Amino acid sequence: MSESTKVAVLGAGTMGHGIAQVCAAAGFTVHVSDPSEAARARGLEGVRASLDRMVGKAKMTAAQRDEVLGRIAWGGDLGAAVEDAGVVIEAVPERIELKRDLLQRVDALAPDSALLGSNTSSLSITELGSTLRDASRLVGLHFFNPVPVMELLEVVRGVRTSEATIDRALAFAARLPKTPIVVRDMPGFATSRLGVALGAEAIRMLEQGVASAEDIDRAMELGYRHPMGPLRLTDLVGLDVRLAILDHLHREVGEQFRAPPLLRQMVRAGKLGKKSGEGFYKW
Ligand code: 3HC
Repeated sequence: MSESTKVAVLGAGTMGHGIAQVCAAAGFTVHVSDPSEAARARGLEGVRASLDRMVGKAKMTAAQRDEVLGRIAWGGDLGAAVEDAGVVIEAVPERIELKRDLLQRVDALAPDSALLGSNTSSLSITELGSTLRDASRLVGLHFFNPVPVMELLEVVRGVRTSEATIDRALAFAARLPKTPIVVRDMPGFATSRLGVALGAEAIRMLEQGVASAEDIDRAMELGYRHPMGPLRLTDLVGLDVRLAILDHLHREVGEQFRAPPLLRQMVRAGKLGKKSGEGFYKW
């Protein structure tokens, strides 16, 4: 995977713009595609803010920041984004039909040689690949928020994913650089399955009045050395994202993943966490 490889990132949201940033910082040419102009503008602002923070901490120079920004193109045309791409990563909302339809369009528009990655948190890579001409080139490339900071890349092997695709995914991880783990295509993989279990239990504890949100978080931060408690983390990830993962795992794995009513109620009220200004905390 050479420096000149073009990476297409589909979706300019929290994960999409973070993925675009790390790819551009690694030297790749990046094209972010999102049909919403407002989402593209927010994505660009997110990248700029993150890079400014790095400049402020002397982790990069202002000139390097400008180079990284200059390597990312933003647009609404899917065909233009995936044209000539060596790697395509979809990072659109966690709805199987949305991701499947998009990947099917990419399958027709991107070069046959392109590696196709899905940043799904929990959906089946095998199912996402079921309508592709060549499902052997689809792999889960699961990033973590904030993408520029988190070291892990969870690489998910679908039933039809080829060994060559896994090798390319590992080489891509090394370039970013991220530390990969390779997991089987099981609901919630390794990370989301454990992550939402803790998050959901914390919400149930809040419902039951065990302690305040702050103290439930402190329990894990000070008692278990988690960098951030499970409720604050749910705010960071997005309550809607966590609810979608829980609903999926509830269907696929069982009762232990039934979403707490409080979470569903908050999502219905538009309290989605950091991105909407309010979740378990005010932001
Ligand atoms: N861009 C660039 N740098 C950033 C950044 C960003 N968006 N966010 C934080 N940083 C940097 C800071 O500048 C700081 O740098 P320094 O070490 O040089 O001072 C460093 O990261 C630590 O940040 P802060 O000092 O502001 O605060 P913390 O020490 O509390 O760290 C945190 C913030 C990295 C977010 C930390 O709290 C953390 O690791 N939280 C847990 C995050 C987590 O679990 N993410 C996974 C969520 S699940 C997911 O994403 C999967 C998906 O499918 C849903």
